Amino acid sequence: MKREANLCRKCPVCNGNACKGEIPGVGGIGQGISFINNVQAFKKIGLLIDVVNNIKDINPETKLFNKSISFPMMVAPIAGIKNNYGTDVTDYEYNSDLARACKDTDTVCFVGDGIDMENMFHLPARAIQEQGASGFVTIKPWIMDKVTERINLVNEFNVLGIAMDIDAAGLPLLRNSATPVENKDYHGLKKIKELCKDKPFVVKGIMTIEAAKIAVAAGADGIVISNHGGRVLDDCVGTMDVLEEIVEAIKGETTILIDGGFRTGTDIFKAIALGADGVLVGRPIALACATEGDEGAKKAINKLKSEFIHAMRMTGCATIKDINKSKIKKLTM
Ligand SMILES: Cc1cc2nc3c(=O)[nH]c(=O)nc-3n(C[C@H](O)[C@H](O)[C@H](O)COP(=O)(O)O)c2cc1C
Repeated sequence: MKREANLCRKCPVCNGNACKGEIPGVGGIGQGISFINNVQAFKKIGLLIDVVNNIKDINPETKLFNKSISFPMMVAPIAGIKNNYGTDVTDYEYNSDLARACKDTDTVCFVGDGIDMENMFHLPARAIQEQGASGFVTIKPWIMDKVTERINLVNEFNVLGIAMDIDAAGLPLLRNSATPVENKDYHGLKKIKELCKDKPFVVKGIMTIEAAKIAVAAGADGIVISNHGGRVLDDCVGTMDVLEEIVEAIKGETTILIDGGFRTGTDIFKAIALGADGVLVGRPIALACATEGDEGAKKAINKLKSEFIHAMRMTGCATIKDINKSKIKKLTM
């Protein structure tokens, strides 16, 4: 039976139009332009069919952070499920379902964070371990003693790594909270990397070459090119609009991930062709998981996977290594 999720409008294509400005809710901030631009950016790139080859078997697997995953897609952190989706599901229940779905589909989940440390951070992090899944915890850019408290807690857990959504420094609800968030510079990121000890540290919320270079210099094992799904600043460019220049600046120095507006397997293909190592998908999988539990999440993940494999087959790519810029064309709009 489907569970309610009244705050999401469940559009045929999740593109940020109907839910403009709906926070709480799942929309983009203000006029919703950043969310809309994320989705629009994919329209500026097309795939090139190439079936003049003898490819029979397609292998979409890849390895990220020493973990093999079934295709280059992981699930983005989404916190505050009750408040944002209008459902009875807690963050713990949601992340337990999600972790199970990711384990069953051989991929990785990211869990989020919020002011209520026990229910929005500790229990979701615990869900990864309880389900025997591979997952990242994503810590908000709190002031340093709060960051340290959370990292020390999860260092005891069996999680794949630790991420920080540095762009959450712009979330209005957190900016004015009793536990404030703050911007993180090179020294802050370096200190956080040290606290993570032997666990990979991923900096989520990079949109410029300069910020990417600083994250790399501070020791980040990965970055996520992200504008938080358009929820922290209105009028941003789409994440796919900056992917290529960031790849050119730092490729090979860290793992490059990207999120924002990925809705199909062909969207994922475009990012890999432009040099991303992997993609995070948020809202479509979150809605499926919130309303239909782990089975819903699995269905959404498997749909993306089969679309991605089809794109590989039709562009003449037998493995992930074969996906490159020669398989796509930028369109003049
Ligand atoms: C309701 C909601 C809650 C979110 N919570 C978090 C969070 O706790 N931590 C985080 O790093 N990102 C959070 N995000 C951002 C997502 O991880 C991701 O960057 C974004 O949603 C990706 O875009 P997509 O949803 O268009 O795929 C949230 C996004 C939404 C819509």
